[in-house]
Order: sequence, then C-alpha cells, then structure tokens
Amino acid sequence: MTTARTALITGITGQDGSYLAEYLLSLGYRVVGLVRRSASENYWRINPIRHEIELIQADLLDQSSLDTAVRRIDPDEIYNLGAQSFVPTSWEQPILTAEFTGVGVTRLLEAIRKHNPSIRVYQASSSEMFGRVREIPQTELTPFHPRSPYGCAKAYAHFITVNYRESYGLHACCGILFNHESPRRGLEFVTRKITHAVAQIKHGLADELRLGNLDAKRDWGYAPDYVRAMHLMLQHDEPQDYVIATGETHSVREFVEVAFSEVGLAWEDYVKEDERFLRPAEVDLLVGDASKAREILGWVPSVSFRGLVKLMVEADLAWVAKQKAKRQRLP
Ligand code: NAP
Ligand code: GDD
Repeated sequence: MTTARTALITGITGQDGSYLAEYLLSLGYRVVGLVRRSASENYWRINPIRHEIELIQADLLDQSSLDTAVRRIDPDEIYNLGAQSFVPTSWEQPILTAEFTGVGVTRLLEAIRKHNPSIRVYQASSSEMFGRVREIPQTELTPFHPRSPYGCAKAYAHFITVNYRESYGLHACCGILFNHESPRRGLEFVTRKITHAVAQIKHGLADELRLGNLDAKRDWGYAPDYVRAMHLMLQHDEPQDYVIATGETHSVREFVEVAFSEVGLAWEDYVKEDERFLRPAEVDLLVGDASKAREILGWVPSVSFRGLVKLMVEADLAWVAKQKAKRQRLP
C-alpha cells in the first residue's frame, strides 16, 4: 500500500485555499492547512471539509512558527497562497503588505531550504505584477511594471522564489495567475461585490451599487480551474513558471451589464460611479496568454466569461434568499 502524499497549504481559509484543499483531497492527498491565530475563526470556506483536513497554526510574519510547521508536517508539496491580497488595502498598509506578501515568502523558502529542500513549492504570483502592461497579451516573458504596493510585494516574492530555485535547486514554481473568481470570492473584490449587489437589489434589500473605475479590463477565470493548474505545475519534473489565464479580457462595465441582465434589470438604473473606489494608480488592462501551460501541462479553462457571471449571480441569489429567510424568522 502506498502512503498518501501530503500537501501543506498556506491561505487555506481563502478562496483558492479552500478549492485547492478540496481538489487535493479528491486526489487522495493528506491535506494540512496553515492558519494564523485569530480571536474569531474565519473558517466558513473550509467548514464542509473541516473533518477531512488538519490545521496547524503559524504566521507568514513569524519565522519560528513556519520552521516548526514545515518540520512537523514534512510535506511533499507546499502551496503558498497566504497573502494580504486586496489591492486597495496595500496603499493603506504598504509595509504590512510587503511583510505578508513579500518577505513572508522568503521566510517560508528559508524554512524549506533548511528543513528539506526536496519539498516542492508553489508560489502564488499575480498578473498584478504586469501593472502598466508592456505588451498584449502578457506571457511569462513580459517585463513587470507593478502599479500598487501589492504588485511590488508580489514581484519581490516572484523573484525570490525564482532565485531560491536557481541558487539552491529548490523545486519551486510560480503560477502567474490572472484574476479568478467564484461564489467564494471575498465581498470586497469587484466581481463578487457586483453579483452580491445584484442579488440584494433583486430581493429588494438594496437599491444601488457604488463602483469605481468601470473601464478597467481584466482577464477573469473560474477559481476551481486555476487551482488545478497549481497542482499540475508541481507534478512536472522541471520546475518552471506559468501564466494561467483565459486569454479574454472584459471591462468592469461589461461584467456589470451581464450580471444585471441575468436578473432582467438595466444596470444604468442602479450603478453609481463613486470616486472613493478609484485607486491612486490603476492597472487598466490585463489579458494573459496561457499557451505554455496548455502545451506543457495540458491545462485549459472550463468556464467562459458569461458562464462565470451567471454562476456567481445564481449563487448570490440563493445565498441572499437564505439570509433574508433567516432574518424574517427572527422574533
Ligand atoms: P484570499 O481569499 O484573500 O486568501 C488569502 C489567505 O491568506 C487567507 O487564508 C488569509 O488568512 C491568509 N493570510 C493572510 N495573511 C496571512 C499571514 N500573515 N499568515 C498566514 N496566512 C495569511 O486570496 P485568494 O483569492 O484565495 O488568493 C490566493 C493567493 O493567490 C494570494 O496570495 C493572492 O495574492 C494570489 N492571487 C490571487 C488571484 C485571484 O484572482 N484570486 C490572482 C493572482 C494571485 P485569514 O483567513 O486568516 O485572513
Ligand atoms: N474592488 C473593487 N471595488 N474594484 C473596483 C471597483 C470597486 O468598487 N470599481 C471598479 N473596480 C475595478 C478596480 O479598479 C480594478 O481595476 C478592477 O475593478 C478589479 O478589482 P479587484 O476585483 O479588486 O481585483 P484586482 O484586479 O485589483 O486584484 C485581484 O486580482 C489580482 C490578479 O490580477 C486580486 O485577487 C489580487 O489578489 C490578484 O493578485
């Protein structure tokens, strides 16, 4: 009988961490999640699989906790998904973002290098690193020009991962993932903010949606497709970096139009532009070329832009209906 492979996931309580944990369990992995201590647990995304996974406390800010976690679990694979991932917060808290999202990666790589350099490691790089894009579409060879403290921290994290691969021979891969969404997306990100507001408006619980830049364009995919790519990267014998994207770009305005049309409403009646949601520097357009991932890993996305908007609107309609029913039962 062969023993199950063990995966350690940082950021398991986040959108991607929860989908990746489910996916790896379905492949027969032992899954251990690294969680930071909190007075109130935020486990809603992993509650359905809570009895199938193990959790260990550590923090990307704390070297000794990472050393202990890597030594105790001694996994075959580590997926580093933990980060301060909301771009606007990175202007409010640039140093904390650099610590979590940038230097935290070095701490984790150090723990791996010192304990067991044969552990395979995945780093969650981001299309936000392309920022003011130098070419269209963006590939693994497109130079970075980050436009936010978050993008700068991710660029550092990317290069330090490449550097540990080249300096110490770590089996480290960076997935340069373009935006990916789902019903588990945080409510502050634009897609979920829109689909949740559409559901609230449809149920009579809200009458407007305030947004920032409607002209920004993103390459939006479906998160469960993207976690498959993370796993595929670590199975390949040669560690490399890959762009993961759909190859299509759409504006925030188009996302809004499709989401409102799903429930038979005209978006112009509800959406108000609000400068509080504009950013000090914007990433105007992202569109990725994932040919390398398709050719080497056989990875292709399974959900279209319209399919993504539809499934998110449907999930939020059901969720808001449930919340509303609960509230009506209160005395
Ligand atoms: P997310 O939902 O915001 O999840 C972030 C996770 O990081 C949470 O589990 C959070 O834990 C954890 N975390 C934050 N600070 C930490 C710390 N100091 N120590 C340990 N864990 C910490 O993000 P996501 O959308 O799943 O994204 C996963 C990763 O991919 C992130 O690194 C993100 O930057 C990157 N990425 C995302 C996208 C995208 O479109 N989703 C695209 C490219 C790259 P708590 O629950 O305790 O807060
Ligand atoms: N959040 C938000 N809220 N964004 C808005 C709003 C609003 O009210 N109105 C317009 N936008 C625009 C933003 O200006 C941005 O151009 C676009 O919508 C997408 O914003 P987000 O959904 O917040 O995502 P992001 O692209 O900044 O960052 C996400 O994708 C990155 C990959 O490119 C995050 O998941 C990052 O962690 C990830 O690395």
